[in-house]
Amino acid sequence: MASEVDGLIKTGGLADVARVLPIELQNKDVDVAIMIPCYPQVKAMLHPGQEAPVQMTMQLGSTHYVYHVHELSPFGVPVYAIDFPSYFDRDRPYDDGHHAYGDNGERFAFFSLAALQAAQMLNFQPDILHCNDWHTALAPFFLKSVLKDNLFFANTRSVLTIHNGAYQGNFDLNTIHFAHTFSHFTEEGMYDSYNMINFLKCGVLYADAINAVSPSYAKELLSPLGGHYMSHIFQRRQDALTGILNGCDYGEWNSETDPHLIKPYSAADLSGKVACKLELQRKMGLPEDADTPLFAMVSRFTDQKGFSLLVPALERFLESSEAQVAIVGSGEQGITEALQRLASKHPNRMGLFVGYSDALSHQAQAGADFFLMPSIFEPCGLTQMFSLAYGSLPIAREVGGLKDTVVGYTQGNESNANGITFIDPNGEGMYWALEKAEQLYRDEPEHFRTIQQNAMATRFSWQEATDKYLAMYYKLLA
Ligand code: ADP
Ligand code: GLC
Repeated sequence: MASEVDGLIKTGGLADVARVLPIELQNKDVDVAIMIPCYPQVKAMLHPGQEAPVQMTMQLGSTHYVYHVHELSPFGVPVYAIDFPSYFDRDRPYDDGHHAYGDNGERFAFFSLAALQAAQMLNFQPDILHCNDWHTALAPFFLKSVLKDNLFFANTRSVLTIHNGAYQGNFDLNTIHFAHTFSHFTEEGMYDSYNMINFLKCGVLYADAINAVSPSYAKELLSPLGGHYMSHIFQRRQDALTGILNGCDYGEWNSETDPHLIKPYSAADLSGKVACKLELQRKMGLPEDADTPLFAMVSRFTDQKGFSLLVPALERFLESSEAQVAIVGSGEQGITEALQRLASKHPNRMGLFVGYSDALSHQAQAGADFFLMPSIFEPCGLTQMFSLAYGSLPIAREVGGLKDTVVGYTQGNESNANGITFIDPNGEGMYWALEKAEQLYRDEPEHFRTIQQNAMATRFSWQEATDKYLAMYYKLLA
């Protein structure tokens, strides 16, 4: 179960994973189904003539819930959408654009319970209940508390995948009006303070197995610096915690077939990449020049992604170099404004698109020479995998999944390197990396080409990741 699935609704990489992993599992003959809240974007995918949804009822506290379960199959895997309009008929899944919805705790506690009830009603008896992030992290707890005597789930084992430990779903129990039906089961560790429940903590304490989306992030979660104030909880479950690196969907991220690109290209023939660069410069309002190094970024505008390093570094870099920068993304207002200030100060050097655009994200990946990923923390990161595939060298901070996917160039390792990396989480570190990149581009074109070829040959296989997930499932069922 997941709160977002690419093709239906997406705000970040969780959606990519929640689509590809089920497809890959199905390719390996696993009987899999996806549970998702029925947001308006999901409802829009239903066909007018399709079978009537199943009606379900549930008594929670004083409320008698009547909801519906729609079945759809947008990409070959059955998807069950839990339709309860007063919770899910909202254009944005988690917030109104400014503030998180006040009833998020209740919405996702309900979703997790309803998804389990729906599975039983549909007679879909799971060997493995696979939950993702805080939104569905209560489900493993429900299996072991309110549903512990339900024989239908007697053999079900639960997995919690942590895509982002910084979002924990921390709620006052008073905002979940039916909380008293389960709160007496909760143990001390699940609370952050008086009357505050932490969904992710519940998941970590109760899931049969836990995995982070990269081996390095799994390690970081155990440390006070990387554990999002929950390292002691992760330590308690250390034996159940592993890291499984996400794969990259090379069906979607193939520069030879990508319909968003003005001209296809391959590692063997990069002429199309030059056309993509000129097109990106045009789209971002920058002077068209094939020889100017172009640094792109596609990102949620949030602290995690390293804007506190990037903005001061760009302030200097845009003064000291001739390079161009193209940034695509949306999110926090303070970050948007800081980037807008930079872009208006250097209109010929920095282009900014504030918004969400699949097409432009593909075009930015293809048109760039370098891709910026200076994250403060990064559980896995998918965009650096896309940029590697598209021959745009990632400039990444050595943290989490970036550490596991990007090999930084240092003198002499050209035959292995696929990008540029730095460690210090400050503007100095970032600036150093930007300068190093420009120097590589201008003064060492042969090394640049070698590293670019390495990047395009780097592969993160979903089949391999899926085998690791299967091994984790089978271990639980043994
Ligand atoms: P995170 O999930 O932390 O945001 P990831 O790198 O795992 O980071 O995944 C981000 C996903 O969202 C990628 O598929 C990326 O292309 C996409 N994305 C992020 N911002 C935008 C945007 N403004 N327009 C289009 N796609 C975006
Ligand atoms: C999260 C993380 C990102 C990861 C993605 C998919 O959103 O921030 O690093 O790649 O989930 O697992």
